[in-house]
Amino acid sequence: MTSTYQGVIEKYRDFIKTPIGLKAITLLEGNTPLIHAPEVAEKLGGNFDLWIKFEGLNPTGSFKDRGMTVAVSEAAHRGASSVICASTGNTAASAAAYAARAGMRAIVIIPAGNVAAGKLAGAIAYGANVVQISGSFDDALNIVLKISEKHPIALVNSLNPYRLEGQKTAAFEICDILGEAPDWLTLPVGNAGNITAYWMGFKQYNNLKNSGLPRILGVQAEGAAPLVVGHPVHHPDTIATAIRIGNPARAEEALHAASESKGKIIAVSDDEILSAQKLLASNGIWVEPASAAGIAGLRKEIEENKIDIKNKCVVAVCTGHGLKDPDIITKDFGIPKVVPPDINQLEDLILNG
Ligand code: F0G
Repeated sequence: MTSTYQGVIEKYRDFIKTPIGLKAITLLEGNTPLIHAPEVAEKLGGNFDLWIKFEGLNPTGSFKDRGMTVAVSEAAHRGASSVICASTGNTAASAAAYAARAGMRAIVIIPAGNVAAGKLAGAIAYGANVVQISGSFDDALNIVLKISEKHPIALVNSLNPYRLEGQKTAAFEICDILGEAPDWLTLPVGNAGNITAYWMGFKQYNNLKNSGLPRILGVQAEGAAPLVVGHPVHHPDTIATAIRIGNPARAEEALHAASESKGKIIAVSDDEILSAQKLLASNGIWVEPASAAGIAGLRKEIEENKIDIKNKCVVAVCTGHGLKDPDIITKDFGIPKVVPPDINQLEDLILNG
């Protein structure tokens, strides 16, 4: 029996650069929904067409799976038996899952105390060797780079070009569904691989299919906004731990994507991120904090009259599922009341608040 959908490598094999004869290690990633969200657009105060590309619905709960299927398949193809990455959590869980699928060992290095519970649990569940360092993501990335140069261990961070080859398929999917590129694409920016991949994807599709090009609005967290302040940030800090990165590996490409697309990279506060997370959840779309940064940035641009999106088509990429970081909800949004299993008390509570 063959299933109709076979993951991003098979779906887009002709469009992504892979070694000839590459066997796909897949969990049927990609093919995520593009959800129309007119109520969210209305609350953002704009008369425009808003779509949410919900990448949290990938197999391990984030967009990383699109790139990881290609990076791990290629590593397996050349006979590697181990993969390594630095991660704020999602890359770790994704690398762990795809390595498990390939029968390979995954080593993941994470910043101690700054990885959300669902991500750490995922990496452990899939059987990775998880090591925490008492340092930042940027420290971890520097070290894994050196280790991968010294030892036969495949690096699967987005410095690995195959990661971008996979991740650009999200741009293809958006064009396939909409029939053309949107006017604007907004997304969070951390290590800057994803914004680079989207821009590659849109440009490639435009060359092949005349699908047009979006303007790109990249959004960083204020406490971790090296691309906005114009220099590395030594002690990045934000509740959006996924993008708590001070020295993005693909900084130049990200700035190029923003300028070439006639877009921009801006920063939003943690409060703005949490408020955007709430707004999306109020429409049934629960994303992790970092993933709400695109919407937070869009809201800010609209409120400050810096963007003209009247009647435009906007896609907001929501990169990871809310389940990745349950603590942020229970911590900030309060926990439900506990009452005895008594109908009178429950009725009183339900009907009278
Ligand atoms: N959103 C989420 C949920 C992420 O996990 C990341 C990055 C980003 C956005 C930013 O993407 O780095 O390509 O600019 N997470 C990486 C990780 C760093 O280790 O999981 P980027």
